[in-house]
Amino acid sequence: MKTYLENDWSEIDNLLDIIKNQGLSYLSTLSDRPTSIDQKEASREEGMPESGYGTKKVLEIFNERFEPVIVGSSGPRYWGFVTGGATPASIAGDWLTSIYDQNTQSTSGQGDVSAVVELETIKLMLDLLGLPQSFLGGFVTGATMSNFTCLAVARQWIGKEKGKDIAKDGISVPFKILTATPHSSSLKSLSLLGIGSGNIVKVKTMEGNREAMCMEDLENQILELHGEPFILISSGGTVNTVDFDDFKAIAELKKKYNFWWHIDAAFGGFAACADNTKHLVEGWEFADSITIDCHKWLNVPYESALFFIKEQYKILQVETFQNSNAPYLGDPLENFSYLNFLPENSRRLKALPAWFSLMAYGKNGYKEIVESNILLSQKFGKYIEDSNDFKLLAPVRLNTVCFTLKDNAYQDKVNEFLEKLNNTGKVFMTPTFYNQHKGIRAAFVNWRTSEKDIELVFNIMTEIISTLK
Ligand SMILES: Cc1ncc(COP(=O)(O)O)c(C=O)c1O
Repeated sequence: MKTYLENDWSEIDNLLDIIKNQGLSYLSTLSDRPTSIDQKEASREEGMPESGYGTKKVLEIFNERFEPVIVGSSGPRYWGFVTGGATPASIAGDWLTSIYDQNTQSTSGQGDVSAVVELETIKLMLDLLGLPQSFLGGFVTGATMSNFTCLAVARQWIGKEKGKDIAKDGISVPFKILTATPHSSSLKSLSLLGIGSGNIVKVKTMEGNREAMCMEDLENQILELHGEPFILISSGGTVNTVDFDDFKAIAELKKKYNFWWHIDAAFGGFAACADNTKHLVEGWEFADSITIDCHKWLNVPYESALFFIKEQYKILQVETFQNSNAPYLGDPLENFSYLNFLPENSRRLKALPAWFSLMAYGKNGYKEIVESNILLSQKFGKYIEDSNDFKLLAPVRLNTVCFTLKDNAYQDKVNEFLEKLNNTGKVFMTPTFYNQHKGIRAAFVNWRTSEKDIELVFNIMTEIISTLK
């Protein structure tokens, strides 16, 4: 009797057809797929099977238990967190990533070409974002890991400035991190890196409902350090109100003071793709490291993000990530291999979905996606501004609308309103707290979102709010 494995292999064309058809059916009805579902159904667990079921039967089990409760998070009205969709080309690249199943490491010698694809994709991304080719980049799972990677190299840099090799000897000298409104993942990275999130010196934000750092306070804080080197974490799009630190001014400070400049531009970096917003990132080319998420505005499937670190710090990068007790891997500076430049050793060809999408749609395709999302956020923001029931908590600066219920007396109803709204399954938004208000965030980064979605959602919001009055 054939084993299930042999059987599956003998009908792989049929299996792939079945999966393709299921995928097509999902993608073509994605707009109608609920954006939130009660997941109780999926909680019944199957035990580990003795002999297995074969893929067809497993698909049946999956379709019975999980498929009906999968939410349309890559659909046009999933505005929670900052959740991108997936372009057709990126899905094609993602499928092939699994089929080819490479372990992306070195660019030369015997072995596969996947690291060459990755380096080429990095160059395309630098070009798309208008950044110089003086950055060395790589793919990691998300912006959290990108912040981690960049800050790990910053840690090595600061150690060297103080005559220490932290990668080798651990942290034995204190140092400070200056920042105003960092994303939570930077704090997580500091704690993972043993730097400690408690070593942050908070820089004041600008006056007037801003999350960007006050440059005057930044300089005062720098002076307080009396010439000690430090790490600056700046924001290229804060998560609540998408405010940008003043990169041109920071670049000027960099001429005067000795610091590692990191920018978390997870989604805001894509402002560089649109004519009207590219000024927001002016000066970012002078940063030492930059975080970009691809599973947000690049619209490629999860897990995909990039770090860019100035190539001049290659040695620090290698000191931090090299597999130092494995001489069989060769000299890391002579034989380039990603495993000496980032946290993971083994990794899939993460760049391929991005490569496909960048090549398929080009600069103009991404300009269109970014500009369309910006227009839609402005439109949604205008609905909020003109309404009697809602108010903006901050101006719409790029692609996120941060708002609350208009009447302050309704502050305790914000969560109830949001729960009812999300329960409709027609849209998903996330709660926040901003400027002493309970608020709601809607982030637009999906290529599928259209004006019709905005109208539909605003009508539902108006209906729900009337039931709460
Ligand atoms: C500014 C910023 N940085 C970092 C992250 C973390 O990204 P990820 O979830 O991809 O790790 C996010 C996620 O929303 C973000 O908005």
